[in-house]
Amino acid sequence: MSTLGIGIHGAGWVSGEHIKAYAKNHHTEVIAISSRSRDSAASKAAEFGLDNATVHPDLQSLLADPRVDAVSLCTPPNQHSAETIAAAKAGKHVLIEKAVANNIADLRAMQQAVSEAGVKTVVSFVLHWNPQFMWINRMLQEGAIGKVFYAEVDYWHNIGPQYGQYAWNTKKDIAGSTFLSAGCHAVDALRMFVKDDVVEVSAYSNQLNMDYEYPTNVIGIVKFASGAIGKVSSVFDVQSPYAFNIDILGDKGTIRDNRIYAKEFFAGQTDWVEVPTIRPDSGDVAHHPFVGEINHFVDCIMSGTDSPIGLDDAAKTHEVCFALDRSAAEGRAIKIADL
Ligand SMILES: NC(=O)c1ccc[n+]([C@@H]2O[C@H](COP(=O)([O-])OP(=O)(O)OC[C@H]3O[C@@H](n4cnc5c(N)ncnc54)[C@H](OP(=O)(O)O)[C@@H]3O)[C@@H](O)[C@H]2O)c1
Repeated sequence: MSTLGIGIHGAGWVSGEHIKAYAKNHHTEVIAISSRSRDSAASKAAEFGLDNATVHPDLQSLLADPRVDAVSLCTPPNQHSAETIAAAKAGKHVLIEKAVANNIADLRAMQQAVSEAGVKTVVSFVLHWNPQFMWINRMLQEGAIGKVFYAEVDYWHNIGPQYGQYAWNTKKDIAGSTFLSAGCHAVDALRMFVKDDVVEVSAYSNQLNMDYEYPTNVIGIVKFASGAIGKVSSVFDVQSPYAFNIDILGDKGTIRDNRIYAKEFFAGQTDWVEVPTIRPDSGDVAHHPFVGEINHFVDCIMSGTDSPIGLDDAAKTHEVCFALDRSAAEGRAIKIADL
């Protein structure tokens, strides 16, 4: 398999970044595109010069195209479960935009379909390829701050009418919740940094922007299987530039965003070290490292390996989001095992 045929479904904002990243990969060619409307798919193909791509009227037609080996699902979240199931049944590998599902039944159905079909999946937690994330992961792997016992990650982003997705993002049946819509990146990051499973959460919410059909601001306290504890928040009503705050406390040191204090690892350290790097400080998809994510997806397909951020790992992040939403709604702690 020297060149993989790629299909794009959902011709909106994020799809442009997928298309650009596939164009940079020597093993892929976008040869099919579809969307809710055929016109939208045709204009996206024209915008990105996809001269060899067939514009399909719908996903079913795109999945029936035998030249398509893999598909990127770039539609709103409530459609991802059914679309993933259809793609898996058609034998296509799937790059799924987050959120992958808005409820546990849809999540389990897509996990089952992917497992039965044996196709590869990557879920678009694109910050895994953000340079600050990669630096933090390297420091954790090296044991620079020792064993993590406490961590906090915040997703603070004013998502108001100025934002392209606003029309559907405000709808509960499409976007789900603030955590499912966006704060899932923070939950995914918290799980990645602590390297453990969340077992219980307790959350509170409030709301300023009443256009939303769900609480716009949610904070959760989480307990990990190892006994580590943490805090995660997703806030749409913040009045500040986009912020993705990271604090990780280990028994030998501490990381705060792009600063580290680890006085055994950096022998003789007397104050924080700040590492100039590209931080996760923008909600603009053009700032997101889709090239790294898509190269990883292609590597997984070509080498026949399962991604560590495939659907089964993403399912654990989504379970935490479901539990946070339920805890905030019901005013009690929720165990993941009870979902
Ligand atoms: N990983 C990340 O960091 C990241 C960043 C941004 C977005 N995303 C995710 O990517 C997905 C798409 O987001 P986007 O910003 O690209 O959204 P968007 O610009 O609104 O595009 C969504 C596309 O899906 C199609 N669509 C199908 N059913 C729709 C419906 N009921 N309402 C609206 N559009 C519908 C639209 O097709 P037509 O054009 O044919 O009407 C549109 O082209 C979402 O799941 C979002 O969470 C992820």
